[in-house]
Amino acid sequence: PSRVLKDRFGRTINYVRLSVTDRCDFRCVYCMAEDMTFLPRQQVLTLEEIARLARTFQGLGTEKIRLTGGEPLVRKDILDLVGEIGRLGLRDFAMTTNGSQLSKLAESLRQAGLRRLNISLDTLDAGRFRQITRTGQLSRVLEGIDAAREAGFRGIKLNAVIMKGRNDDEILDLVAFARRKQVDISFIEEMPLGQITDHDRGESLCSSDDVRARIRRYHDLLPTTDDSGGPARYFRMPDSPVRIGFISPHSHNFCATCNRVRVTVAGRLLLCLGNEHSVDLRRILRGYPEGDGKLRETIIRAMDLKPERHHFSSDGDVQILRFMNMTGG
Ligand code: GTP
Ligand code: 5AD
Ligand code: SF4
Repeated sequence: PSRVLKDRFGRTINYVRLSVTDRCDFRCVYCMAEDMTFLPRQQVLTLEEIARLARTFQGLGTEKIRLTGGEPLVRKDILDLVGEIGRLGLRDFAMTTNGSQLSKLAESLRQAGLRRLNISLDTLDAGRFRQITRTGQLSRVLEGIDAAREAGFRGIKLNAVIMKGRNDDEILDLVAFARRKQVDISFIEEMPLGQITDHDRGESLCSSDDVRARIRRYHDLLPTTDDSGGPARYFRMPDSPVRIGFISPHSHNFCATCNRVRVTVAGRLLLCLGNEHSVDLRRILRGYPEGDGKLRETIIRAMDLKPERHHFSSDGDVQILRFMNMTGG
């Protein structure tokens, strides 16, 4: 690339997360309110605009793109966008999904050039799954995970948000499931984004240290050198290729090595998940339809706004009013 994106703290930004929709077929308790209003069509970037962003970021040194949502697979014609970005030949191209449509789409996603999938799975109990996702069906997600494996995806990772009293008794079952399916798994501390009235976060927060201690009773956890520059700290077990990650926004500050920015589906370039610093790229995309000079310049200058770190409070206080589905995590 002709340029590499750097921020004021010397961090190289080479990973972009693009949210392709704020909609989702689930209503997970930690992500959305039960009754959500979604963005009107004209505020949402078109697939062409998202593809243009992907190309522009690639020209600025981006090596990895992850598509997020909401749920990316509910966006109409998503396979066209995946194909478009697949053809860019990035070092890494991934998607984070709830898995509900994977039994239908895994094969086509693979063919369109997607490399890796992160699939959310917080519980293996159908009733609890319904309580946590409010509208989801566990069996469809389990079929989706199998479909992804059969489609030949290698880098599959499960995401489990652990909440006290809801699913913290399933940590070892989830590890056993990951080992059986030969997929990685990350345990995530819940982040306080969006005001979700019927869900008390302060009460339910379960720390990564806690989760790790429980796994340690049954499995040795050997540290690995983490290659993704992401928020997860990864461990291996002596008797399995499966990796176990811990994403700990509360208890472990990973901001020093942050290599990522994200673009919301409304075209807001968000410099940090835990802060509001942002730049409106939709205005530039629509105001300068010819030539990417202005877009490039805006993105380069935006890096100066990336804050040094996030400050999530651990008592469940919400400082960030946007819901998780606006940013895709
Ligand atoms: P990689 O691309 O492999 O690093 O994946 P990932 O685990 O970062 O991505 P995924 O979309 O699966 O997100 C897993 C969890 O990490 C979600 O809860 C995200 O909200 C969280 N996460 C991702 N990036 C950041 C970040 O920059 N800051 C914080 N606090 N959390 C993040
Ligand atoms: N805190 C932590 N993780 C969250 N996710 C969604 N909302 C939250 C939250 N408030 C996770 C989902 C999914 C990924 C995109 O982010 O479980 O795996
Ligand atoms: Fe949908 Fe994912 Fe949010 Fe759950 S966490 S409501 S699956 S976007």
